[in-house]
Amino acid sequence: NRHLISAGDLAKDDALLILDTAEELARVSERSIKKLPTLRGRTVVNLFFEDSTRTRISFEAAAKRLSADVINFSAKGSSVSKGESLKDTALTLEAMGADAVVIRHSASGAPHRLANWVHGSVVNAGDGTHEHPTQALLDAFSMRRRLGGLEGRKVTIVGDVLHSRVARSNVLLLHTLGAEVTLVAPPTLVPVSVGTWPCEVSYDLDAVLPKSDVVMMLRVQKERMNAAYFPSEREYSRRYGLDRDRFARMPDDAIVMHPGPMNRGMEIAAEVADSARSTIVEQVANGVTIRMAVLYLLLGGETT
Ligand code: CP
Repeated sequence: NRHLISAGDLAKDDALLILDTAEELARVSERSIKKLPTLRGRTVVNLFFEDSTRTRISFEAAAKRLSADVINFSAKGSSVSKGESLKDTALTLEAMGADAVVIRHSASGAPHRLANWVHGSVVNAGDGTHEHPTQALLDAFSMRRRLGGLEGRKVTIVGDVLHSRVARSNVLLLHTLGAEVTLVAPPTLVPVSVGTWPCEVSYDLDAVLPKSDVVMMLRVQKERMNAAYFPSEREYSRRYGLDRDRFARMPDDAIVMHPGPMNRGMEIAAEVADSARSTIVEQVANGVTIRMAVLYLLLGGETT
């Protein structure tokens, strides 16, 4: 495949190739080799219509470590404010010679549409409430590094599933890789389509926690929230937050994840986020490695 738009498009062999390539690249970095010549002469455009810290910076770092030229575009301050469409923006950037376009957009499906308009590879860096495939890949990579394999591992994903592109991409990828996923959320924050997802659903975090190898907390996305879905922060935190007491009831070797940005004190207590069993900082570092692997495979190496 020329593009990476959905985690669901990855067969098991594709996903393992990306994870194994990232493992090789991590070994190269550990030998203090900071830059590889692989994508010299290629251009990666980061096309961000929505805010981002981790994803935008890590795609830039990944492309630069592979010696690609990088063009960073953010909708704020561009001609998008004058009404220029996604198509015209994309064609303008392609005319500047983009070999790959990394896109984040508030509209679910924007990367899919973009792939019909440009010749280069399209990488979905988060589209609306739909998917965030490189986040799922970096999460799987982080789990594999901490736990060994993913086959049969029990992964619990907790919180605002309704608005979470991270949850959907993780469910699809983790299922492909043989893990068993349970989503835990208030009934108002579970999407109607969840019955078609390859996972279990529970409303009782305390019942699921003791059986989990991984507990992934999701950000409560207040900016996408309707008050009817979310009556009270305190009630949410009491029933679905990972606080000190709940953390103590997890198995001793279970890990805690969060894609960031976090609402400390709401979905996750600060001391849990900062504990030795939290992978949150590792996830950010692994994000650069995974994005290097994705760009390398799409632009420079074997095709996925
Ligand atoms: N996890 C994640 O996508 O973070 P950003 O929104 O900061 O990129």
